[in-house]
Order: sequence, then C-alpha cells, then structure tokens
Amino acid sequence: MNPNKTFKSLRSLHLSLRFVVPLAVALALLAYTVVPLVDKLTLKWFARDMDIRSQLISSTLQEPLATLVVDKERIKISKLLQKATQDERLLALGVCGNDHALLYKTAAFPKEISCKPTAEEQKEKNHLIRLSQGPVHLSRTSLQVEDGVIGSLILVHDMSFVERRSADTRKYVIILFVVLGVVISLITVFVAHLSWRGWMEGVRAMMRGEGILRPFSQPANAELQPLVGEMRSLLRNLETERRHADDMTTTWNPAALRALLNKQLTGDQVLVVSNREPYIHVKTDQGIVVHRPASGLVTAVEPVMRACSGTWIAHGSGSADQETVDRHDRVGVPPQKPEYNLRRIWLTEEEEQGYYYGFANEGFWPLCHNAHVRPIFRSSDWQQYQKINQRFADAVVKEARTDDPVVLVQDYHFALLPKMIRERLPKATIITFWHIPWPNPESFGICPWREELLQGMLGSTILGFHTPFHCKNFLETVDRYLETRIEHESSTIFHGGQLTMVENYPISIQWPIEQQGTLPPVKQTRTEILTEMGLPADHLLGIGVDRMDYTKGILERFTAVERMLEQHPELVGRFSFIQIAAPSRSALEEYHAFEIRVHALAQRINQRFEQAIILKAEHHDAEQINRYYRASNVCMVTSLHDGMNLVAKEFVAARDDERGVLVLSQFTGAANELHEALIVNPYHVEQTADALYQGLTMPEYEQQERMRSMRALVQDFNVYRWAGRMLLDAARVRQREKLAARIGKMA
Ligand code: G6P
Repeated sequence: MNPNKTFKSLRSLHLSLRFVVPLAVALALLAYTVVPLVDKLTLKWFARDMDIRSQLISSTLQEPLATLVVDKERIKISKLLQKATQDERLLALGVCGNDHALLYKTAAFPKEISCKPTAEEQKEKNHLIRLSQGPVHLSRTSLQVEDGVIGSLILVHDMSFVERRSADTRKYVIILFVVLGVVISLITVFVAHLSWRGWMEGVRAMMRGEGILRPFSQPANAELQPLVGEMRSLLRNLETERRHADDMTTTWNPAALRALLNKQLTGDQVLVVSNREPYIHVKTDQGIVVHRPASGLVTAVEPVMRACSGTWIAHGSGSADQETVDRHDRVGVPPQKPEYNLRRIWLTEEEEQGYYYGFANEGFWPLCHNAHVRPIFRSSDWQQYQKINQRFADAVVKEARTDDPVVLVQDYHFALLPKMIRERLPKATIITFWHIPWPNPESFGICPWREELLQGMLGSTILGFHTPFHCKNFLETVDRYLETRIEHESSTIFHGGQLTMVENYPISIQWPIEQQGTLPPVKQTRTEILTEMGLPADHLLGIGVDRMDYTKGILERFTAVERMLEQHPELVGRFSFIQIAAPSRSALEEYHAFEIRVHALAQRINQRFEQAIILKAEHHDAEQINRYYRASNVCMVTSLHDGMNLVAKEFVAARDDERGVLVLSQFTGAANELHEALIVNPYHVEQTADALYQGLTMPEYEQQERMRSMRALVQDFNVYRWAGRMLLDAARVRQREKLAARIGKMA
C-alpha cells in the first residue's frame, strides 16, 4: 500500500470528521429536542380527540343512563354500560352517586379511580393520568335529570395506543433525522473535499506564481478566487517591495553575493554553462600560456563564479586545454589561485563547425542582431546544435551533486539546453541568460526551427534579457509561435506544465575593477601611451574596443572619424582613433570579409589623414585595454545592435579621474542606463562625427559631471547586483516550489 495514499486518505478522513462531528452533534441535539416535542404534541392531539369522543359518548349515554339510574334498573344499567365499552378504546365506565359512591361500574374499571375527583381533576373535566395498567384518559360528566344532578358518569379511555403510536413516531423521526444527517454529511464532506482541493490547488498555483492562470478545462473555483486573488496580490506586493528594498539597500560586492548564496540558497550547488571558457590554455613557443577571451559574457560571469565557487562547464577550445585538465576534464581556475572548477567539454572540428560556427554564429547571431546580415540555416548545423546541446546537458547532470542544483545557462549557443536539463533534473532551478538582443516575432519567424528553440528555452525557471524591450519581444514571439499562456502583468509563461519567468537583468561589470589601486595616475598612463605610439604630448585620442564583428559598427565609427576630420581640419594630425579589434569567428566568411573591409577603410582614411586610425587587430588583455581607456579623451561604442555592451561600462569604470567622454550607440542596452553619454545613431554619420567632436572639445567640468554620474550608476548596478538579482529571484522560486511541494503532500 502506498504510504502517501494512506496519508492522504487519513488526512481526508480527518478533514471529513471535522465536518461530520459538529454536524452529528447538531443533529443529536435536534433529535433530543424534537422527539419529546413530537411526543408532547401527539399526546395533546390524542387527548383532545378523547375529550371530544368522551363528550360524544357521555351525551349519548346521558339520557337513557340517567333514567335507568333513577329507576335503579341495575341489570339494564349494566347492559348499557357493557355495550358502551365494546368500543375498543373505551376501557371502563363508572356511575357515581352525588355522595361520591361508585354505584355502577364495568368490569375493567380501575381501582385507583375514585368517584371523588382530586383537586387537580376538579379544575378540569378531562384528564390524562397514568395508572398501573398504563395511561388512561379520564372524563367526568354529570348525570342529569329534570330535577337536577343525580350523580356523575366516569369514562375511562385506554391511552396506551398513544404511547405505541408515539414510540412509532419517535422511531420514524429518529430514522428521518439519521438519514437526513447522513445525506447532509455526505454532501458537506463532498463539497468540503472539493473546496479543499480547489483551495490547495489555488494556493499551489499561486506559489508557483501562476496566479489565477488555470487550464481552460479547469474552471476557477469562483468562491475562492477573491481570496486567491488577494493573497496573490499581497504576495506580489511583498515581493515587489522586498525586491525593491534588495535592489536599493544592498551594496553589491563579492561578499554580498556569497552571503546571498549562503543565506538564500543555503549553499546550493551553482553550475554555469557557456560555450566560451573563461581561461584558455594555449601552446606557444614559450610553453603553455593562459589566455582570457574577449567576451562580454566571460567578463560578467567570471567574478560571479569566483564569488560562489561553483563549476563552470564550457567548450575546451585551447590547443593545450586537454593537457591541463584532470581525468574528469576539470581544472581549477584562476590558474594562479584556483577558486572554482572549469569542466571542459570536447568538440570535434565537425561538431564545432556545425554547432558553433554554423548554427550559433551564422544562424542565431545575425537572426538576433539587426545588422543587415542574412542568417544562414542549414539542417546539418541544426543537427550538430542539438547534439552538442545534449552533450552539455549530460555534463550538467554528471556534475550535479544534488537533484536540484542552480544552473546558469548562458546565451544563444544553448537554447535547447534548459529543456534537456529539465527532463533529467526536474527539480533544478535553471536560469538562462540571453546575452544578445531578442528580435521581434517577424524576424525570429524566419528560423525553420523556431518552435523547438522556443520550447527549449521555456525549460528555464527564469529567462533573463538585458532590457525590458528584449523581454517584450520574447513574450510576443512566444505568443506568436507557441500555444502557451502568458501573463503579461507578471511576465510569466506557462507552457507544458512549466512556468517560466521572463525578466530583465541588465548585465554589468565588476566594481571596483580588478586593477583598482594598482594603477598609475591617468596622466602618467596617457604620457606613456603617447610616447609608445610616437605621438606628441597634447595629441587627442579616441578609443574603440571590440571583437572584429559586423554588429559593432566599426566601419560606421571610422567613417564618423573621417567625417569629423573633414569638418574640423584643425584636428587633422592632432587626433588619432585607436581601434582594438580582437579577432573573432574569423573562420566564417562573413567575418573574414568584414575584417578585410575594416582594414581597407582604415587604410583609406589614413591615406587622407595620417594616423587618423590606429588599428590594432589583435588580442589585448584587460590590463592593456584599461591603459588605453585611461589614456583616451573619448571612447566610441557605435554598435549597430548590442544586447548591453560592456565596453561602455568598462570605460566608465576605468576613469577614476572622472574625465573622458563616452559616445554611445542608441542601439545598445547600455544606452538605457548611461544617459550622460553622448547618445548617437551610428547609421547617422554626421551625428556621430558631431558627437565625437563634442567629446573631444567638452569642457572638463562637464566631462566630470557626466562621468561622475555614470560612475555612480555602474558602481551601484555592478555585475554582483546583476547576478544577485537573478539568484534572489531563483531563491524565491525555489522557496515557493518547496512550499508548493509541501502543500501538495498535505493535500
Ligand atoms: C558575445 C556573446 C558571447 C560570446 C562573445 C564572444 O558577447 O554574447 O556569448 O562569448 O560574444 O564571442 P565568441 O564567439 O568568441 O565566444
């Protein structure tokens, strides 16, 4: 026997008894008062009957009997009385003289009855009395002749039949009440059971955050709706307030994040999955060296991982990666002072070609970025994408120490992963963060596997985007292509029994930056850089830092530099724009062609304006990049479309001198936050050129005001807050789910 079922039955019984016992007591009380009342009433009715009957008999007997008594006709009197008592109810008759002597009587006349009425009998003519043989009805009437009263006639009616009938009535009343009670109890228990289930389901749904969402086939329990609605709105208000309080009051840093993990997630295991690994071991002539990739994702997730010491699962893409892992394909990182584990996944060239270059970067990447590059979708790439997603899902399952880890899935390489993990670890809390924009439904609709991708993503508990606009696009896309229930108010999607919360979490960077406190003053760095480049001390510098990617607006940026120099010839020879462009995905034709175009444009501009563009198309580490940020007058971020763009925030964080101007594309997520930047449309060459010029000539006090404000924002909304908010939401969902599971067990 299933103990769970037994428990549930006992619980049901217990609940039922709660209804039945009070009901039974109420019925017993009812029966206790009603039955005597019925008794009393029936007796009264029969007594009245007897009164009438006695009167009738008396008046019938009156005349002949009085005459016979006067004539003292004993025998006739006896016969008359005898005849009268043939009536089965009339027990006995007696004739009394005026002196209260019993003159005549029938055989059954009770001895206890005397001709002299008792004091009580004197008040009333008819009486009910109990004799040894049972209850009787006694009636005394005067026997009259013309001369006056000659005695009295006593009629004794047997009333035992009343008792019999009364007992019958009592029996029927009790049976009626018992039947009534049972029926009412059954109805009550049935209704109570339904209500309890409805209530529990309501609460459970609410705990899951479904609110009043129910399958269409399951109509809402109307009587409970106001309660559930009120509780839900109360919970939501509390959550909003708490969330607001968390957001506003907590200073987010690694310690706060660690405290959150310990307190809210009580040390639950955190697993990160991304394609790009945070540390790449590469073979060089000098031996094995470690590279840090140029990736906004890595920049953001790395400090979080260091704070929570989990396991990061990623593609081992370095030439020395295999040599540096243990037998479980794990390596402790950062290499100098390991703080968490990196678990590497191996891909063959063919797999990398299909999954990474093909589907992710020739299909998904251009699909999500409005940069006018057509996505390419091939079935063979799709198959590899599915296969590799499955491989990573298997690795997650293998690395999980419990059945409910917190899994942070990163980016467009793993749209199918959340569902695959959910199938194997149903209790896992899966937070998927989409680091790139999400397109509108029409754009997304061109993908041949759009439904599968959306279903895959909806395996997530929480799905994060950088901006509310990307969330809105996603909800609209799901609404267009899948059968789901979407609650816009709470930004949740219910699909296939799984609830996904879609929320915006603007990503950020570590604050303070890693090099903070070890850096030489800005002036010194600036002098050093200018000297290294052979430029005069008063030379103006612009800086751009990107991967060599067509979404970054590098060509538009160069064109704006050219236009600015055309418009302001006084700056020719006094200004250079340094472009750091880390090689990226160069195996792809589109990227290769783009790189050639970037080089060609820089060359062409430099032919017109010497050293206008200094193109550094190679990898630079964070420290080197930071020096350029500090040495420059203006930083240009002119992406044609970008999820967030962390370069904008890195530049702000690097400028502890509160100087320098940020020119920022309106098509980046960062433009939603960094309002003091000079916001431009990079497609508008003149506008961008003007902004560059404005930046180069901006008075210092204005630079300071703008920079100070942006620094305050980045300091406050740093990457720990980004991760903290997601993990806090995850912790709340986990608590809700645990509570819902407990309630589920109780119901
Ligand atoms: C963007 C993507 C990341 C990616 C990074 C570098 O920031 O959102 O997922 O890691 O570009 O691209 P790569 O293809 O070199 O990993």
